[in-house]
Amino acid sequence: MKMDQSHTIGAAKDLEPELMLELINQAQSAYRHAYVPYSHYPVGAAVLFSSGKIYSGCNVENASYGLTICAERNAIFNAVTQGERQLMGIAIAVPTEEYPSPCGACRQVVREFAVDCPVILINGSGKTRVTNLKKLLPDSFGPEFL
Ligand code: THU
Repeated sequence: MKMDQSHTIGAAKDLEPELMLELINQAQSAYRHAYVPYSHYPVGAAVLFSSGKIYSGCNVENASYGLTICAERNAIFNAVTQGERQLMGIAIAVPTEEYPSPCGACRQVVREFAVDCPVILINGSGKTRVTNLKKLLPDSFGPEFL
């Protein structure tokens, strides 16, 4: 597996290689279930929480387009529904050559459950790029402000 770590900065704790691989595998599996009749852009996400468990999600679109939910939020909400609260890392996979990039709304939802964490992006060739939340969402607002 090729890992480009050049984008990694800040305080995100590195994940163990086995956990990283498992996150990548689960994110890639998840996009196979994506419901994308409108965009035809499947996305899969897998999230590691502090219990050590991994949860996954895919994007689910709707004929009323604005009701579409991204893969990242489905994965995180799935975990939170099981009682999880502390997000340790997220992997996002797509079948296209262009690497995925989490939308602004999903970045903020990640921020709700992690001040910083590794974000692994996987393209359709299985190449990975590792970045982190602080880079994707600098000067962020979060629950501690309230
Ligand atoms: N989408 C995701 O699931 N995650 C992202 O990171 C970017 C966008 C979905 C929403 C919609 O189903 C499709 O991709 C096109 O925007």
